[in-house]
Amino acid sequence: MNVTVLGAGTMGAGIAQACLTAGHTVTLFDAYPEALPAAQDRIAKGLARAAEKGKLDHGSPEDLLAALHLISSDLIEAVAEAGIVIEAVSEAPSIKEEVWRTVGPAAPSDALLCSNTSSLSIGHLGEVSGQADRFCGLHFFNPVAVLPLVEVVEAAATSPATLEAAESFARGIGKTPVRCKDQPGFLVNRLLVPYLNQAIVLLQEGAADATSIDTAMTLGANMPMGPLALADLVGLDVVLAIMETLERELNDPAYTPADLLVEKVRAGALGRKTGQGFHSYGGDA
Ligand code: 3HC
Repeated sequence: MNVTVLGAGTMGAGIAQACLTAGHTVTLFDAYPEALPAAQDRIAKGLARAAEKGKLDHGSPEDLLAALHLISSDLIEAVAEAGIVIEAVSEAPSIKEEVWRTVGPAAPSDALLCSNTSSLSIGHLGEVSGQADRFCGLHFFNPVAVLPLVEVVEAAATSPATLEAAESFARGIGKTPVRCKDQPGFLVNRLLVPYLNQAIVLLQEGAADATSIDTAMTLGANMPMGPLALADLVGLDVVLAIMETLERELNDPAYTPADLLVEKVRAGALGRKTGQGFHSYGGDA
């Protein structure tokens, strides 16, 4: 299948890699041309790592990379032959809306239209696209190459055929789909992100330092990584955007973003992607 992935950040590159690994042809679009070689490099390293572990069934890393096409100039061209569009652009509502206003009418009339949004309403984005029946959430988890879950998010106007096609696509790339309704945070982020936020509150209250909070949860609750390290992996801007959505949509002060989270984002310390968050990351983070 021709898969078009919109947005070549951490999630877009990870989704593109997962689709290439399953043998699909992938067009990766980003409005910023400089984002594309960096994403290609990350995908090449991920494919090489998977090949080392004997996990590539559809060809060598070179074969799979040959099925990756990079486009930055023309969004309409990027979706012209798509069987499925997976949008993973920045979580800013205005950017996602602008993308879907263009893509909805430009994609083939039988294409599946999906957003990887972690915090915005699927129903709203579907309406903006003008193709609400063919629109659903397809929410991946970071790192995409490793985590098997995909939330398939059903808005009121999403057709049953769209949901079935999205689930079948997810299974075809080796993921496990879980269907859920279009509510703030879906399932995982509704539970996970307030926990990350509470860890930040503990840090700002001086309960312990960042390493101790993380060690407490890895050794005391058997988490694969501590909450502050996980917030750094997800991206503090993304954590903040999700908390803001939860607070606004659920109208509950329990979801107020921690002051320290807001400060970090204002200072541009966004976690691994900037080299600095609650921990420091040198080199190729
Ligand atoms: N490409 C291909 N394979 C990769 C890869 C990549 N980019 N990255 C890792 N792998 C493979 C490794 O080769 C390894 O394979 P093996 O099991 O055969 O040896 C396996 O995946 C595990 O890799 P690592 O050994 O590097 O991983 P660790 O065991 O150290 O675990 C971790 C790292 C997977 C990040 C783990 O700590 C973890 O699961 N942390 C929690 C992550 C999490 O909760 N993510 C969800 C965030 S919420 C979200 O994303 C939603 C959004 O909307 C905010």
